[in-house]
Amino acid sequence: MTVCGCQNEADPRWLFYLPGRGLSNDAPLTIRASTQKASKNASLANESRLILAVKVILSMPGIDPAKVGHFRVVTELAGGIDLSTTQTKTDLQPEWGLSQFNPWDRRITEQNIWPIYRAMRQQGPVVYSEALGGFWCVTRYKEVRTAALDYRNLSSGHVLEIGKQNWTNKPRVRLIETDPPEHTRHRKAMQAPILQKRMGEFSNGIRESVQDLLDHIAQKGEFDIVADLAEPIPQEVLGRILGFDEETRRRNRELVRKFVQADLETSEEAHGAFWEFLIETIEDRLRHPGEDFLSQLCMTEVDGQRFTESELVGMLHGFALAGHHTAIDAISSMLLHVSDDYIKHAYQDDPSIGTQIVEETLRIASPIHLEGRSTTTDIVIGDVNIPAGESVALLYASANHDESQFDNPEEFNPKRTAIQHLAFGYGIHMCIGLHLARLEMNVVLEEMVKRFPNYRVTGTPEGTGMVFGHHMGWESIPAAIA
Ligand code: HEM
Repeated sequence: MTVCGCQNEADPRWLFYLPGRGLSNDAPLTIRASTQKASKNASLANESRLILAVKVILSMPGIDPAKVGHFRVVTELAGGIDLSTTQTKTDLQPEWGLSQFNPWDRRITEQNIWPIYRAMRQQGPVVYSEALGGFWCVTRYKEVRTAALDYRNLSSGHVLEIGKQNWTNKPRVRLIETDPPEHTRHRKAMQAPILQKRMGEFSNGIRESVQDLLDHIAQKGEFDIVADLAEPIPQEVLGRILGFDEETRRRNRELVRKFVQADLETSEEAHGAFWEFLIETIEDRLRHPGEDFLSQLCMTEVDGQRFTESELVGMLHGFALAGHHTAIDAISSMLLHVSDDYIKHAYQDDPSIGTQIVEETLRIASPIHLEGRSTTTDIVIGDVNIPAGESVALLYASANHDESQFDNPEEFNPKRTAIQHLAFGYGIHMCIGLHLARLEMNVVLEEMVKRFPNYRVTGTPEGTGMVFGHHMGWESIPAAIA
């Protein structure tokens, strides 16, 4: 079967049409695309978009993703000259069905996850997976949102990322895995430095950091969106909040990288090394307090009580990890999407849609795919009875692609309005750093398009696949400034 796509002159978005009637699920599925730009680079950039477009096709009605074995992307220039062919396997084996959905499975990629989620949503608002000892996946927007609010019946205290409950050496308390009243106390203290009203203080610093990075990129001409731009930004920002010097930032970056790339077997060890670093940092601040927020946090009293060293370490973890890899992925995904001429021109014509582009990126490419909870009592979610003591995964990324909530959810629409996505979660655990993350993304978008209006992606982006059982992003996105 061949699915065709062409770039329409009037509307340069990729439009897909299906020749012949009646789709079959026979592999291979071939996606043929033609572009009107007669250059190899245009073709390469389009190829990366095509790979993203594969997920659109795989989620079309009539295609059962579980039965599509692999697909082939054929890129050709106007006039029908075949320039490149990419053979890509989706790894969606029928035997690896929804009942075995395992977020630690490294076969999960940017290409195949969306049809998997779609199939899960079709199966129901709650789908049981037998993997990792068994857990319940909440798949649809409405139910994920309701479940995220229900902190009394769905505790964050016992499970964080699904599968890690088997760790023998449980990590110390972190905000994200506490329930009230402990959660309330920690959150109050941590929120102080990153409240919306303080964003003005950070804004100039972030802009300066971004401008420095763009100066460096200007000298290179060719660059990597992830390594040269997205990766250094969160560390710069956290450095400003936490008072990390250059060496501490470098260590933080290295350890987080190791940590998020670990698999289920090595995750505990990687976490241990990261934890040691956090303990050292807190001990140092307690001995030599400075002017930074971390030093203030060490001295803060809530309800007349200071935080213990172990609590402080847990709080630092919240900044040093959660604020790092998520922001890298969100910035990278945004610049990948904006490299599309249609989206870039829409923004250049009307810069006021910048915030919509940021939100649409977070919706369509949510860095955190899921978070874990455990039931404290027997509960019902979407007509499904879940007994007490069970693990539950809130599939935030699937909810953000729910067709009953978003029109054409697989399409990046830079003008989409009222995007109430769940990329930052919902309820009492909703991301504490969301204002900061949005600020970083908005500043990068403004500065990048202003400085390099013709920047483009020059090679196939390399995704991380699903890492650490809950998160997905980018390893590398080759690009050029013109
Ligand atoms: C685009 C970037 C980001 C995304 C997509 C993101 C996503 C999330 C999500 C989905 C949660 C909810 C977890 C749950 O439901 O259990 C969360 C919580 C959290 N995030 Fe973020 N985050 C981002 C940036 C940041 C930044 C910049 C910081 C810190 C500076 C941060 C710190 C935290 C903390 C501490 C929590 C735990 C909050 C709580 O349990 O009350 N995040 N984040």
